[in-house]
Amino acid sequence: MTNVGKARSERCALTASSLVFSAFFLVPLTLVAAAAPDSSLIPSIFSPESTPAHSIHQLSLLVLAISAAIFLVVVGLIAYAAIRFRRRAEDDGKEPPQVYGSNPVEVAWTTVPLLIVVVLALATARVIQEVQNAPQPESALDVQVIGHQWWWEIRYPKLGILTANELHVPVSSENRRAPTFIELRSADVAHSFWVPRLAGKTDLIPNRVNKMWMEPTRTGLFLGQCAEYCGTEHAKMLLRVYVHTPEEFERWVSEQKAIIARNPEVAAGRLVFERTACVNCHTLNGTIGDGRFGPDLTHLMSRETLGSGALPNSPENLRAWIQQPDRFKPGVLMPGMNLTATELDQLAAYLATLK
Ligand code: CUA
Repeated sequence: MTNVGKARSERCALTASSLVFSAFFLVPLTLVAAAAPDSSLIPSIFSPESTPAHSIHQLSLLVLAISAAIFLVVVGLIAYAAIRFRRRAEDDGKEPPQVYGSNPVEVAWTTVPLLIVVVLALATARVIQEVQNAPQPESALDVQVIGHQWWWEIRYPKLGILTANELHVPVSSENRRAPTFIELRSADVAHSFWVPRLAGKTDLIPNRVNKMWMEPTRTGLFLGQCAEYCGTEHAKMLLRVYVHTPEEFERWVSEQKAIIARNPEVAAGRLVFERTACVNCHTLNGTIGDGRFGPDLTHLMSRETLGSGALPNSPENLRAWIQQPDRFKPGVLMPGMNLTATELDQLAAYLATLK
């Protein structure tokens, strides 16, 4: 082979390795970004909007940069060796000289990886320490989250609010810090609370209390999900976090605390609720319903989704959901109640008033 040919095939090797790199890292990222309708809703760790998420983002960039460098060096060397030393027509068929016990080589490939691991371990330990040992300021909001198959119970113990699947928190600013400190528990199996743009992933383990916190610096809706396989409907255990201005948050709190006046127009639906097994699983203030197995329904219509993100919350969807929940969430633990069409209409009309 001529020198020109050799140089060309070596360049080819490098191009090939950078193509492989793009295929592994860049193409999937671009596809994900292109597929989502609203980029602000993509739950990506690469667009953090909260204090612990920023530290995790920076750490992940460091880890990715080091891994990418290693990847390029390894793939580049493999491709170079494969092309530069491939079998040729004029080969004499003899084995090339073998190298054994070279001290400089042994030292180099032991020390370099060791240093890389030490750097990664120290950087990670620092971020973990920073996030876990952050002191809780006086102004922090306390929230308890309990994982259930397959929904999230959310409580604000100091505010006396009980809700589900949609966490509402205030935004934090420099002169008005308002982080949210969350205690995580599980009612059944292991789950994992993960809203990538706001904080790292923390598991909810039965018989254990885990803690995490977030301090969002931008208002808006942030999506998350259960990140630990917890049974059939693990994939439909979605989370929504609404970050409000302090005024909006106050308004949300007062709406959640408000007592809904009895509406005589929907008394029939209320009766359907109280006479069926609904009351065994659902709490609804002002009725005999005090079950804890399913979500609290007191302010059901203040939530945007049903079934922990399985479908948008509207009176029509609510009716269809009550009639046959496993149509939307196969394996869901809520049974269809075999109500007549009239009873369904009455019940849906009643629940639709619970703003
Ligand atoms: Cu809960 Cu996966």
